[in-house]
Amino acid sequence: MSSSTTTNNTPGFNVKASDWDKTSGSYTQLASKGSPMSIPITRLVEMLHTSSPFDSATTILDIGCGPGSATAQLISTHHTAIPASTQLLATDFSSGMVNVTSQVRASKLEALQEGTEKSTWARVVPLVLDATDLRPLLTESISHIIANFVLFMTEDPAKALEEAHRVLKSDGVAACSSWSRMDWIENLALAASRTFPTLGKALPQLPMMPAQWTSVEGVRDLFTDAGFRDIHTEYVEAPMVLPSVEGFAHQFLTSGNPAVTWVTDVLDETEVDQLEKQLVQVIKEKCEANDKGGHILNGTAVLASGRK
Ligand SMILES: C[S@@+](CC[C@H](N)C(=O)[O-])C[C@H]1O[C@@H](n2cnc3c(N)ncnc32)[C@H](O)[C@@H]1O
Repeated sequence: MSSSTTTNNTPGFNVKASDWDKTSGSYTQLASKGSPMSIPITRLVEMLHTSSPFDSATTILDIGCGPGSATAQLISTHHTAIPASTQLLATDFSSGMVNVTSQVRASKLEALQEGTEKSTWARVVPLVLDATDLRPLLTESISHIIANFVLFMTEDPAKALEEAHRVLKSDGVAACSSWSRMDWIENLALAASRTFPTLGKALPQLPMMPAQWTSVEGVRDLFTDAGFRDIHTEYVEAPMVLPSVEGFAHQFLTSGNPAVTWVTDVLDETEVDQLEKQLVQVIKEKCEANDKGGHILNGTAVLASGRK
């Protein structure tokens, strides 16, 4: 039997929409091709297509779309299969992120030649919507759901999964991802633990991933508890290759991403500089270098799909 009970006294990645608004501008770069995010997105799209080919899609829902990366991936790879009547909803609780998706949509419509890719983008509706309350969406109205690195970080991940299940049509499919391992967070935590004592400041508590979302067994149980069947889970390696550790450390620490604000919010500019130097040192100390002189931050994602 499965169990969805998670005991967790440490803070999770429980961030407000306004926090994501602040980082929406710089986020696109983080989620672009070559980032660790692009590997799980590619695989999630394939998992959805295998479970229920996109030629059967009536409405595709991207939950926590951010800058629209998952929607963009599925359109670029499957636009010829997606029927002309299919609607695509790109939703996020951050209006900043939804605006970025609207801009991406507008630039695609401007740049693309007439054809199925362009007409599919024309049917993308960017929408502000909270994953834990999809109520404006009708029960049994969606054929495909993708949620890349979103559900686990909501205020109530189990409710978010229940909502995804509620809006799916019978036989509809959902695919989502979470993190099992993130070297970038582990290295930041180590750098912070070395830096804060020298600043005479108390180290803030590192937000933890909810335990069940970090393993394929845990996520399988969560999907089962939410009522899904035909559940498939897997790990996928999603490393971040850094051509320049210094460049990465600076971009990461000034990104405003909730992955760093737990620590940067309590520091002034000079203190962030000190943390940045320490982060560079930690990464060079802990992470393997590749033959081009870059460094590799390993990441492992948990992917899951299920059918209603
Ligand atoms: C790590 S980003 C992933 C973005 C996107 N799925 C991608 O693959 O690039 C997490 C996204 O989830 C959104 N998010 C977090 N909590 C949410 C919630 N309760 N409802 C809807 N979106 C949420 C954030 O605003 C952010 O855009």
